[in-house]
Amino acid sequence: MHASATPMHPHGILSTPTRIGPIQLRNRLSVAPMTRVSATAEGVPTTRMRGYYEAFARGGFGLVITEGIYTDRAFSQGYLYQPGLTDDAQQAAWHGIVDRVHAHGARIFAQLMHAGALSQGNRFRDRGAGPSTVEPRGEQMSFYRGQGRYPVPLEMGQAEIDEAVDGFAQAAARAFAAGFDGVEIHGANGYLIDQFLTRYSNHRQDGYGGDTGNRIRLLEQVAVAVRQRVGDGKVVGVRVSQGKVNDFLHKWEEGLEDARTIFQRIGRLPVDYVHTTEFEAWQPAFGAGASLASLAREHARLPVIANGSLHHPERATAMIAADEASLVSLGRGALANADWPRRVDAGLAVSEFNRALLSPVADLENAERVCAEG
Ligand SMILES: Cc1cc2nc3c(=O)[nH]c(=O)nc-3n(C[C@H](O)[C@H](O)[C@H](O)COP(=O)(O)O)c2cc1C
Repeated sequence: MHASATPMHPHGILSTPTRIGPIQLRNRLSVAPMTRVSATAEGVPTTRMRGYYEAFARGGFGLVITEGIYTDRAFSQGYLYQPGLTDDAQQAAWHGIVDRVHAHGARIFAQLMHAGALSQGNRFRDRGAGPSTVEPRGEQMSFYRGQGRYPVPLEMGQAEIDEAVDGFAQAAARAFAAGFDGVEIHGANGYLIDQFLTRYSNHRQDGYGGDTGNRIRLLEQVAVAVRQRVGDGKVVGVRVSQGKVNDFLHKWEEGLEDARTIFQRIGRLPVDYVHTTEFEAWQPAFGAGASLASLAREHARLPVIANGSLHHPERATAMIAADEASLVSLGRGALANADWPRRVDAGLAVSEFNRALLSPVADLENAERVCAEG
């Protein structure tokens, strides 16, 4: 008789199954949402996109979260060639992608995004709209075909807010009709919902402005509207962050107090998970103390997906082992290694991310050219 000689895999915990709501996931590894501006001009996903998403599923990820998808035919679109979920042609093309991902045993969530004041390209409107007439910080992103400063947005009235909320609900219904396993409401990174949440971009005097409890109202209304439209038993999550694409270092003004308010409110919503993103997910959210992911876990009491520089297997393993998160999501790590889960499972090295993949334009055609040139 002898004891098992098989040593424990150092990152074996990443390969353990888990659940989000009613959905079973084969492991703890998700692809982070990444805008790739590779749809048609009409926002219809392409066959190239199908191959891109399929590769992550084939490479072993348990979950793929799509790029931010625009939700209505008014102010939501952020980028030219961004895909949408607002008509039958877009929905049918997404269905084809979902089927390819499912064929390899992975799950796929649609990230629903309203760009608000950060819109750099919208075929339905020639100006962005946001909570207040405040020029967004920073400059437009050239790798998404933007240039110069952001225009001052139109201030949304109640009718535009209602239209945006309804857009999220309708796009969510289309996502489930297209076979998606869940939807993620994009409340992070400086886009519309985050513009409402952030004091400096929200100067409203009505029930959407003022204290944090008011500024999170739009997120609450979107989550409730989505749940009402899709019904129980469907996965709905929210993504939140402190940093923004146009203000990387932003911290919630009230620090820990804000974290408590925001995550407690999210915990009372009809949602199944929280996705947090920070530059380095394991770092204290506010100088010292707990990470944003573990604050989410503590106060929302929901499964958490943690994101931010977790592409080194030791980092990802530590987040899961410490129960700071149920899953980790990888952005740049997944771009550099569509088969990151299989490589790590086999004990192989993972490649470093190459910035040229996203430059001069962050689309799939550019990435294929860079890869072909080796
Ligand atoms: C090319 C690119 C596009 C991105 N687009 C989105 C997006 O559409 N929605 C979103 O929530 N985050 C987006 N992000 C942020 C990523 O989801 C992730 O938070 C970021 O890359 C940090 O994770 P990482 O350190 O694993 O790369 C994008 C990141 C990259 C690199």
